[in-house]
Amino acid sequence: MCGIIGVVGGGPAVPILLGGLRRLEYRGYDSAGLALAGDGALLIRRSVGKVAALADKVAGDPSDGPVGRWSSGIAHTRWATHGAPTEANAHPHFDRSGRIAVVHNGIIENYRALRARLESSGHVFASETDTEVLARLIGDRHHGDLKSAVIGALREVEGAYGIAVLCADDPSRLIVARKGSPLCVGVAEGRVLVASDPAALVAHTRQVIHLDDGDVAVLTADSVEVSGLDLRPRHRSPDELPAEAAVAERDGHEHFMHKEMHEQPESVRNALRGRVDLVNGDSVLAGLGRGEDGEDAAVRRAILLGCGTSLHACMVGKFAFEELAQLPAEAEQAAEFRYRNPLVGPDDLVIAVSQSGETADTLAAVKEARNRGARVRGLVNVVGSAIARQTGRGVYLHVGPEVSVASTKAFTGQVSVLLLMALRLGRARRLSRERGREIAMEIDRIPSMIERVLELESAAIRAAERMVESEHAFFLGRGPMHPVALEGALKLKEISYVHAEGYHAAELKHGPIALLTEGTPVVVIANRSPVRDKTLSNAEECRARGAGIISLVTEGQESVPGAWGELRIPDCDPLVATVPAAVALQLLAYHVARLRGCPIDQPRNLAKSVTVE
Ligand code: AGP
Repeated sequence: MCGIIGVVGGGPAVPILLGGLRRLEYRGYDSAGLALAGDGALLIRRSVGKVAALADKVAGDPSDGPVGRWSSGIAHTRWATHGAPTEANAHPHFDRSGRIAVVHNGIIENYRALRARLESSGHVFASETDTEVLARLIGDRHHGDLKSAVIGALREVEGAYGIAVLCADDPSRLIVARKGSPLCVGVAEGRVLVASDPAALVAHTRQVIHLDDGDVAVLTADSVEVSGLDLRPRHRSPDELPAEAAVAERDGHEHFMHKEMHEQPESVRNALRGRVDLVNGDSVLAGLGRGEDGEDAAVRRAILLGCGTSLHACMVGKFAFEELAQLPAEAEQAAEFRYRNPLVGPDDLVIAVSQSGETADTLAAVKEARNRGARVRGLVNVVGSAIARQTGRGVYLHVGPEVSVASTKAFTGQVSVLLLMALRLGRARRLSRERGREIAMEIDRIPSMIERVLELESAAIRAAERMVESEHAFFLGRGPMHPVALEGALKLKEISYVHAEGYHAAELKHGPIALLTEGTPVVVIANRSPVRDKTLSNAEECRARGAGIISLVTEGQESVPGAWGELRIPDCDPLVATVPAAVALQLLAYHVARLRGCPIDQPRNLAKSVTVE
């Protein structure tokens, strides 16, 4: 997704802007740019490609000029949504006078109509972007008061925005605003900053104001004034950013993804810390209404919302909620939920699952569920994120910053906490203390089971070596391992660019098996479970047609005959086994991608947080 950083006051702006953009690089982008204001003028630098290319451009400027002196600026990394990744489409964009610069995250949905109106009044556009439309709307309304011009323009746009606006006429002020696209303000010593992600601010301050939808703020070197589009003041007090918000370093690992996979024993320990009640066979989750108020346990149904990997976690959660809490549960793709006029109401518990807490479709689904009166809870990793604030109650993951675009420790944290939620709801309903204690003990073992799987990384490397040349792969699983198969396929797809598909093991013979050719790798999740024999039969159906079987089995069980490779997980409850199994498939995907020489942490076309529809 796009990244925004802006600063006013406190010395030369360029080092802060470039440093902020570098901390936002992990979000994925294809061009970058910055604007400085001072001495009654604007200076603009933009480039296609990485932030380094922009830094090279700026390095060529004289140090005693604007680049070395001016202290007000805005900068942006662009992930193309309207128009190709070119310098002309890179932000900032300008008004007709060229004296107002705008950077923008989000999508202006009515930009075509607005652009046509502006062109009919003589505007000649320099880019294909919706952002330039906004910049020109602001300029047309600017008659000396920039804040009023910005508000007037925003009242005309439909869609999502996070913007920062700079004007040559008054470089001591930045105007920022958000609706649907995250924006936060950092108050530091002698300067105020704005960013689309707190990770870009933590080097300067941990006092951060998370703007809400409809907020417009005027930033100066020592003040932040927030109001609504109706000009009525809004009080926004700063949060204290956790120290962990600093962007993680690789600590000797070749990729952030490898580091984050190996962090999982600790990250799951952090997710479980203080939440597993082994004595009563229960869990302690303050954000999920407990028995005394009963509200969350008295619901008739749970709806788990998410996208991508988080949706796969929801699909595992469905099995857990139904088995442990005897609560009907649905896992829903958030974009589908928000548009299909869902049958949801006060008797439903809606849980929004999101690592970033900024996924546009999940956030919109949360708002839809709230509008229909459902009890909405968040399961989010980033503290203070939009979904966390929109749900108001829920459970933070506490797995630490996840930098690699491919989600790993967030997934294992999500599934672990969803198991705890199912345990809690179960114990508030009909789950016995004895069964609860069994489950609580299995959940408590997850970190050590992940450690065991990581010790067997060489088995994943050997299996990856058998798959590395294949352009297609299948992942098969049953029951709660079906979503794990989907997740394993997604990991392989997104970081190695292999066309991988996950299927319910029984589904292959209903059509997809036609795709099998000699040597097609098929990863079969055949852990200990009541349906293992059925899954082994499915594996044999594939092997009989020339497929190369990569099996995932429970330690102590017999191997799958003729397998190309074998991954093993510790023996545990089939629901809980989803977590170590996912780790084994993460390792497999990572080593295939590594052997194929892929970039891994920032895969092509992908972004860490999808804040647009
Ligand atoms: C998974 O590896 C991807 N990074 C992606 O599918 C991600 O899970 C999805 O975009 C949802 O993001 P969220 O958890 O931040 O809402």
